[in-house]
Amino acid sequence: MRDLLMLLADGGFHSGSDLGRQLGVSRAAVWKRIQRVTEELGISVQSVPGKGYRLTQPLQLLNHDVIQRVFPALPIYIYESIGSTNDQAKQLLSEHSAPMAVLAEHQTQGKGRRGREWVSPFAQNLYLSYVWPITEGLNQIDGLSLVVGLAVTKAVKKITGISAPLKWPNDVLINERKVAGILLELMGDPVELCHVVIGIGVNLNMLDSFNSIDQEWTSLSKETGSVIDRTLFAQVLIEELDGYLEKQKNHGFASMRAEWLALHAWQGRNALLQIGNNTVSGQIVGVGDKGELCLLVEGEERRYLGGELSLRLQHDS
Ligand code: BTN
Repeated sequence: MRDLLMLLADGGFHSGSDLGRQLGVSRAAVWKRIQRVTEELGISVQSVPGKGYRLTQPLQLLNHDVIQRVFPALPIYIYESIGSTNDQAKQLLSEHSAPMAVLAEHQTQGKGRRGREWVSPFAQNLYLSYVWPITEGLNQIDGLSLVVGLAVTKAVKKITGISAPLKWPNDVLINERKVAGILLELMGDPVELCHVVIGIGVNLNMLDSFNSIDQEWTSLSKETGSVIDRTLFAQVLIEELDGYLEKQKNHGFASMRAEWLALHAWQGRNALLQIGNNTVSGQIVGVGDKGELCLLVEGEERRYLGGELSLRLQHDS
């Protein structure tokens, strides 16, 4: 399907016979492929008698060669459509060595934190899983999700000039709306060599409001009014990730804590922290050296390693 999409990507009309000639298939086979593109990838294709087919919106596909050239030593896999790049990365790990980067144009079962779905329309956003080996013991992952947030926010700044604040532990926000999310999954035996699959989803060019997103969201395109170059964004993000992970491995989160706090979206705000069935209410006063959330609860500072944070509204007691 990728060949067909590459031919249609310019958004112009292409006749069935032209497409068939270039793909080496019959016009009937072209029509069948067009149907698959619509059904399987949710891409809308207009068909006008006498003119041919065209995409309702021009497409911008990820360019594997461009990204691979920038990182010659890093195996980069790009899929057209898969369940989840995190799951695919875990599968690849059984046969290939890490680090590696796995990207997809489309995820049919994109995973968010806490069992949520991550909406992943075709060729609009960035879906990346970066597999990182843990070689220095498990404290290598202390504060890791916050560090990955820093890499994302830095890439956003480089590409758009926007400074995107961070919500603990790892949401990237613009104007209080979520633009990127991070899902870390630990693989293997912690006493032997293990790996972290770092899943990152960044809303780049998504404009439609999808009913299935149950939280306030935005995209870089919505915020800037321009189309984001997805290949360039992927390249810059992997570059930033490489740099921040190196720092994390050598010096730990403590060396980046001040940088994180300077971008902390909810510093000083009153919030609710949901931990399992319990909810703690307090004032967010910062993060610790291991990335723990510091909450002032009834005059006493408490530290939390996990949980779901929401702002406490004025009328909440
Ligand atoms: C969140 O809920 O905030 C985390 C979202 C993580 C989404 C990314 S997209 C790439 C990778 N593959 C997945 O299935 N999930 C992560």
